[in-house]
Amino acid sequence: MNLMINYKEYTTYKQQYGIPVTIAKKCIDLATESKNIQLIGFHFHGSYIEYPVIYALAAQKLLRLADYARSRGAKIEAVDLGGGFPFEYGNHAFYDLAEMGKSFVRKFNKILEKYNFQNIRLIFEPGKYIVGNAGIALIKVVSKKYLGKRKLAVTDGSTYCMLPDPLVYRQYYDILPATKLTQPRIRTFDICGCTCDYIDKIGTGRKMPRLQEGDLLAVMDCGAYSIAMASNFNNLKRPPIIMVRENGELKLVRRRDRYSEMFAPELDVLKIAEPNELKNLYNLLRGNCNQVQKELDPLKLEEKV
Ligand SMILES: Cc1ncc(COP(=O)(O)O)c(C=O)c1O
Repeated sequence: MNLMINYKEYTTYKQQYGIPVTIAKKCIDLATESKNIQLIGFHFHGSYIEYPVIYALAAQKLLRLADYARSRGAKIEAVDLGGGFPFEYGNHAFYDLAEMGKSFVRKFNKILEKYNFQNIRLIFEPGKYIVGNAGIALIKVVSKKYLGKRKLAVTDGSTYCMLPDPLVYRQYYDILPATKLTQPRIRTFDICGCTCDYIDKIGTGRKMPRLQEGDLLAVMDCGAYSIAMASNFNNLKRPPIIMVRENGELKLVRRRDRYSEMFAPELDVLKIAEPNELKNLYNLLRGNCNQVQKELDPLKLEEKV
């Protein structure tokens, strides 16, 4: 259901999924009159729920519909409030889920009482909350650039092939200087991806130590949706994933993409190239700007001439 909830800046009015609550009764009538449909529950999924009160509002609305469905002969067994729980990132914490759970159960029981429901199963479907903090992406600085006062660290990572786009998705990643953790963070850098797209910025205005080519950066809390949303834009291969067990053991759980599979849909049809022939193209795409600048240094050029 789209329960048409508005709370502060949160809204489901623009949500394209779910039956709009405005036609819910009509749908319940259709379902309860049909021989082929057994209506046993109601579901709501609210995506990004930063205020716990929204779950209570949703429960209230779903149980009102459940009450109506029961009056039409349905035997309602469950209500499902979907996912949407936010996870902590950087210094940004949301509500405590254990506390939220306690206060929600009190409210939910009151609503059950109000509509005289017993034995209704309550379901949640947390997604990003479970896996968000579990992912860390390691990216390497491949070049530095100075645009006026702005310092850019270009990396071999990208919001396209491994991290959901911070601009499209409003995603913020804390970024740590993995190989210089103890050094003072005295410089401000934009941490850029390696594609041709200027919006490919993994983080902007981040305090870092002096960065050099080869330094590793750790992009924190990127366990949710990263690989599912990753693409092969700019012919980038999606990275491998390594699982770190509690005892420190490492296990490769996903390998890096291969050109053979990235181009397979075209090559299968066109039969123009062996997938192996494309292997060498990869390095052509990754130029090191500083190196190029050095090569073009007029003095050096003169020397060469
Ligand atoms: C129906 C449904 N339930 C749960 C989830 C998980 O959502 P979240 O990661 O916001 O907790 C999704 C995500 O797309 C979903 O579509």
